[in-house]
Amino acid sequence: MREVDLEIVSDLAMIANPHAVKEQYQKHVFNELKENPDLAFVAIDGERVVGFVQGDTRGRMTTIEDLAVAEKYQGKGIGSQLLKIEIDALNMRGAEIVAAEVHYKNARAIPFYYEHGFRISECLQDYFGIGHDAFILKLTLREG
Ligand SMILES: CC(C)(COP(=O)(O)OP(=O)(O)OC[C@H]1O[C@@H](n2cnc3c(N)ncnc32)[C@H](O)[C@@H]1OP(=O)(O)O)[C@@H](O)C(=O)NCCC(=O)NCCS
Repeated sequence: MREVDLEIVSDLAMIANPHAVKEQYQKHVFNELKENPDLAFVAIDGERVVGFVQGDTRGRMTTIEDLAVAEKYQGKGIGSQLLKIEIDALNMRGAEIVAAEVHYKNARAIPFYYEHGFRISECLQDYFGIGHDAFILKLTLREG
């Protein structure tokens, strides 16, 4: 991911974050890119950015910060490719556990994560803000 991709990436981020305000979320996406450039990837069709993923690390715990594919490109394997690249990159960072935080409105993503070995570990009320509950899914890469 490059800084020039941030405008379109911020639009795509809204698909994964129904609770977010775009202008504020754009700053988050920008900060994540600055902090973890090796954990941020885009999928492109020609020159058009059609999907992205960002990750972050908190010690041995790592997180898929965001994963989204433009609606008309969904269901074609792009999300799977992005997730695999992200897991490889987190693995290189020595990750033991990868967590994904899914807004309840994106519950369709749960079978997707299960296909990649994740399991639900928690459901947290108000995780993303009042009324915005989350499913937390986890993948164990190596035992601590
Ligand atoms: C979840 C998401 C990233 C998957 O990307 P994708 O490119 O559609 O996924 P793939 O084509 O690699 O895999 C398809 C699988 O994802 C799941 N899926 C979830 N949402 C889907 C959607 N809207 N359309 C198609 N498949 C979807 C299905 O289980 C599907 O499996 P199947 O083909 O056996 O039915 C994408 O659908 C998306 O951006 N969703 C909205 C944002 C979101 O929920 N992000 C995850 C939370 S951070």
